[in-house]
Amino acid sequence: MTVGYAQHGAIAVLTVDNPPVNALSVAVRQGLIDGIRRAVGDPAITAIVLIGQGKTFIAGADIREFGKKPQPPRLTAAIAEIEASPKPVVAAIEGVALGGGLEVALGCHFRIGTKRSQVGLPEVKIGIVPGAGGIERLPRLIGLEPALKMMVSGDPARADKALALGILDAIAEGELLTEAVAFAERAVAAKTPIRRLSQSKIALDGVDWRALLATARAGIARSNRGQISPQRVIDCVENAITLPFDQALGETVRIIGELIPSEQAKALRYAFFAEREAGKVPDIDKTVAARKLRSAAVIGAGTMGGGIAMCFADAGIPVLVLENSAEALDKGLARIEQNYQDMVQKGRIRAEDKARRMGLIAKAAGYDDLGDVDIVIEAAFEEMAVKKEVFARLDQVCKPEAVVATNTSYLDIDEIAAATKRPESVIGLHFFSPANVMRLLEIVRGAKTAKDIVATAQALARMIGKVGVVCGVCHGFVANRSRGPLTREASFLVDEGALPQQVDKVLYDFGMAMGPFAVGDVAGIDVGWRARRALDATRPRDQRYSPTADRLYELGRYGQKTGKGWYRYEKGSRAALPDPEVEAVILQSSRDQGIARRTIGDDEILARCLYAAINEGAKILDEKIALRASDIDIMWLYGFAFPRWRGGPMYHADTVGLKRVYETVRGFHKTHGALWTPSPLLQRLAESGKSFTGI
Ligand code: 3HC
Repeated sequence: MTVGYAQHGAIAVLTVDNPPVNALSVAVRQGLIDGIRRAVGDPAITAIVLIGQGKTFIAGADIREFGKKPQPPRLTAAIAEIEASPKPVVAAIEGVALGGGLEVALGCHFRIGTKRSQVGLPEVKIGIVPGAGGIERLPRLIGLEPALKMMVSGDPARADKALALGILDAIAEGELLTEAVAFAERAVAAKTPIRRLSQSKIALDGVDWRALLATARAGIARSNRGQISPQRVIDCVENAITLPFDQALGETVRIIGELIPSEQAKALRYAFFAEREAGKVPDIDKTVAARKLRSAAVIGAGTMGGGIAMCFADAGIPVLVLENSAEALDKGLARIEQNYQDMVQKGRIRAEDKARRMGLIAKAAGYDDLGDVDIVIEAAFEEMAVKKEVFARLDQVCKPEAVVATNTSYLDIDEIAAATKRPESVIGLHFFSPANVMRLLEIVRGAKTAKDIVATAQALARMIGKVGVVCGVCHGFVANRSRGPLTREASFLVDEGALPQQVDKVLYDFGMAMGPFAVGDVAGIDVGWRARRALDATRPRDQRYSPTADRLYELGRYGQKTGKGWYRYEKGSRAALPDPEVEAVILQSSRDQGIARRTIGDDEILARCLYAAINEGAKILDEKIALRASDIDIMWLYGFAFPRWRGGPMYHADTVGLKRVYETVRGFHKTHGALWTPSPLLQRLAESGKSFTGI
């Protein structure tokens, strides 16, 4: 029974029981209708409570049904049946009521939650609009402005906020079902009028709704550049304001019908499931217990170390920070404090949050202070000799059960682990800059890393609000290694005839947050220079190399921090301005390399940059460094702000068609040589008409 029926005195209790998250599958929709009809038809019943089995009320429509032929009954019909009930219906919301789940709750006449409740309409995040009356009912319940905000962002509201907004009528202190039944009994006894939201009006007195919608549209155009669904939500909200309820809902149903099969919605659904898949490692199941993480230490208080320390403090975990000198440590802590202060000023956290978080960060006087911590993350200078020394010291002081991790971006974890007598406890935890903001945590599993250390790293990712993706060891691991060819091609394109602003614009227009040259200016041209020097010894002599960035480095153009890099920056501004001096450097560099500059089309720029990354991604997959193609995509979404509505580079390749990608790569190989050697996997898939999906 996907919807159970029970009687508590005169109250009928309908329990949605569709694990794991009580999604509104066809059986649940039918079960709701049947249950409501039975309760309404039974003279012994005075009111109805609708509750979810387990920790969730209802997580929404069953996303796996999307794209299949819709089966009756429609969710709108089930909700209409609930709302029309002459007997009061109370939604008892444990955990989340999301999407269709909240829409069901809005069809009920009352809503009672618990402290753990979260309610929201996250449909925009999977490329659609709330399609079962949420758009029409929520503004009628809580007013236009807050409803608009929730629907456009897709972010859920926690219990206290939901209560304040009026989405919840009450929060149960004790057992939810008992209190919901009591609530229903009181409603019956007091003859509390039933409120059917579809029959009320949106309160618009004094609300300039046209201005409100226009502001929301402009905001989305910036924050969700290129994404269709939030704009469509606003179209539907406008209908909800101007049309009668049924007509507006009819339009919304039409619009969601258009959106579900759209490319963007497909990509966003892919990303939703890919993210969940990324948490799964075939040989590590739930029986592998994670170690306890109650305290942490970070070695290095530079930008990375400081950001990592903030991740722990943000999650309420005490963290020690160790540096080479008291001066460096003070400087690092001052930077952390400043970061928190900026967050306070921007209204992102309160002053007391800052104080609490700073209170969790303490200075370590030396390695001996680290003996008791559950996890250490090394974020010291990116040089093997330094890492080995740090790990040898850690080996002496850390307790046996501690996780000993390195934040290296490309060095060999196995070599680092070999500097200890406990290689099984060593793992790579690669954060992305700024570490306290970017959500990717690349979990690099060494040859000897123990399973429970990997499980602990995954648990850590969840604790600190990151998306952890497990991969194997190679130079640059998965994220940076697959992105490297993109920056490489961007540099070559500039040497061949493009300018940084043209390349950046093509990738920006594609949906990336920033183009590779703007990113280079943020990351630091000096940082790139050092990374290239580290590779000098092993780079094949005949391999093509662009010296242009080195020229900028020699001119002291280190990027934003020096006000000059690939672009120039006015004092105090981050706006990247094209610079004639850079153009002169580029033209000279082309001459020096004997390259006759040519006009390069935007299509070539996009293909060179993206397909280089995709070809490398395929090689990484073939080498089994990444577990699945979708893991690479998740890394790009959370590490490099790749547009989520395009799914990720590997998914994008599938949408283009691997045959076409492969043919183009082959063409580039002919023209540009060995760096474009096609991935054998890409070739195999292209020739057999397959895609990366499922690989
Ligand atoms: N449909 C189908 N499967 C779903 C689902 C849904 N709506 N929501 C979650 N699942 C699946 C997940 O894929 C996962 O499956 P797996 O175990 O096979 O990997 C399982 O349920 C558990 O999910 P999580 O791993 O995400 O568990 P968490 O406890 O971390 O999170 C959650 C639970 C908060 C419910 C989260 O899964 C979530 O946000 N789900 C999506 C909610 C959503 O987008 N709802 C709107 C749907 S669209 C809609 O309702 C349209 C309507 O307007 C008509």
